Amino acid sequence: MKKLLNQSISSNKKLNFKKDKFQTLIIGVSEAKTLDGNLKVINEVSNGTIKKLISREEITGKIGNSVYLPAISGVKAEKSYFVGTGKKNKKISEVDYFKICQSISSAALASKSASVKIIIPEVSIENRDTSWTVEVLGRHLEASSYQYFFKGKKNQPKNVLKKVEIFMDSKKVGLSAALKKGQIIGAGSNFSKELANTPANICTPTHLANQARALSRTFSAVKTKVLGEKEMKKLGMDCLLSVGNGSVQESKLIIMNYAGGKKDEQPHIIVGKGITFDTGGISIKPSRAMDEMKYDMSGAASVLGTMRAIAELKPKKNIIGVIASAENMPSGTATKPGDVVSTMSGQTVEILNTDAEGRLVLCDALTYVERFKPASVIDIATLTGAVIVALGHEATGVMSNDQKLADKILSSGITSGDKAWQLPLWDEYQGGLKSRYADIANIGGSAGTITAACFLSRFTEKYKWAHLDIAGTAYGIGGQKVSSGRPVPLLSEYLLSA
Ligand code: BES
Ligand code: MN
Ligand code: ZN
Repeated sequence: MKKLLNQSISSNKKLNFKKDKFQTLIIGVSEAKTLDGNLKVINEVSNGTIKKLISREEITGKIGNSVYLPAISGVKAEKSYFVGTGKKNKKISEVDYFKICQSISSAALASKSASVKIIIPEVSIENRDTSWTVEVLGRHLEASSYQYFFKGKKNQPKNVLKKVEIFMDSKKVGLSAALKKGQIIGAGSNFSKELANTPANICTPTHLANQARALSRTFSAVKTKVLGEKEMKKLGMDCLLSVGNGSVQESKLIIMNYAGGKKDEQPHIIVGKGITFDTGGISIKPSRAMDEMKYDMSGAASVLGTMRAIAELKPKKNIIGVIASAENMPSGTATKPGDVVSTMSGQTVEILNTDAEGRLVLCDALTYVERFKPASVIDIATLTGAVIVALGHEATGVMSNDQKLADKILSSGITSGDKAWQLPLWDEYQGGLKSRYADIANIGGSAGTITAACFLSRFTEKYKWAHLDIAGTAYGIGGQKVSSGRPVPLLSEYLLSA
């Protein structure tokens, strides 16, 4: 997905409110009663209008306070929005800053203008520098401009916002790089959203493979390799293949290799679950809300979105994105409960429930990536409904065999605002996967999310690994059936700082 906005930033630049014409102005106002920078100028040219509104406590500067004025005397703007940026000489929290960015983005879109100018003071945030604030704003603006997949003529969403110019009252210069970085991550997130929102009759394993191939055509630093069913069979990936047995769609293993580092440098790898539709298979799901199972490839979408961002940000590192993709359907050829299959690792699996299919495709992909001698491997999957019970739609569940890796992921979540929370992966939980007829069963135990991670842990002993369960965070936030583009911000942050 191409960038939706033309974004730019300049610092310490005074605008000419008397002369220049503006379509939409979005003006950040702190809680301080003294006005400075561009805001002071607006107050002067408007004969004290801003001061008046502040004294009447209409503009409060408080975070969440957003005031719309169709006209300000003396200022040639069609629309103006005043957005609260909180206390001036006190550091605010990251979460509060995300709220400010959300208010600014909402105003920009609500204005229905093609061009907006954003005038903001420098906001200081605990443990963060100005570049971080600019990056976050760039990302929010780009990400909130995304309008979902739509096929048809009626009510087609229309994007009008094209140009955003940010004017920051700050002495810092060179903020453009941070803005660009944020925008690229926002665009990666949008790419992920578009893939996830695409219905399953279009978004098949082959479609995902084609998207990966298209990515390497756009960014030559990414090399894509796609394995079909024949090739996977040769590698002994019977477990992955068993998931697609009931489908007419061919299963795919997609490998995207970004080589930005030295040849012998160990790569960081992300592996996404790409079930393009999960009916549950023979262990069929109830029909209520089954349409949401088109989102069961959100892990794969996040890998594509993150690889796109990485390809554009060009870090000097080696990063590999892998997608294990299949469609889980019931049919006369489908896998049945009780079937025993072998995995690429040599372990056998008794498939007691065909609806626990994510782990079946991931385990073979996780064995496959051993060949790259990875520095770290993170898998991303809409793996269990149970993670929604545990963490709701707020946090992604993290489980890992390496505490340092888990800590890095948790802190990347805080930095990006794309939060994650750790669940234990203690040996005590492994017992649930006992099988009478194979080395392991694909279900068992009572802690659903942890049990699924325990299953995967049997295939990841050779490297540092973490599992992200995104069933709660990838889509459905606020009850809306739309993709959130998560955890692209978290993954990008992790990979860039790893
Ligand atoms: N794709 C689902 C998990 C899921 C459920 C994602 C709800 C988003 C919303 C996964 O393949 C699945 O069906 N998991 C089962 C596992 C069970 C059979 C052990 C589940 O969570 O019920
Ligand atoms: Mn399932
Ligand atoms: Zn699934």
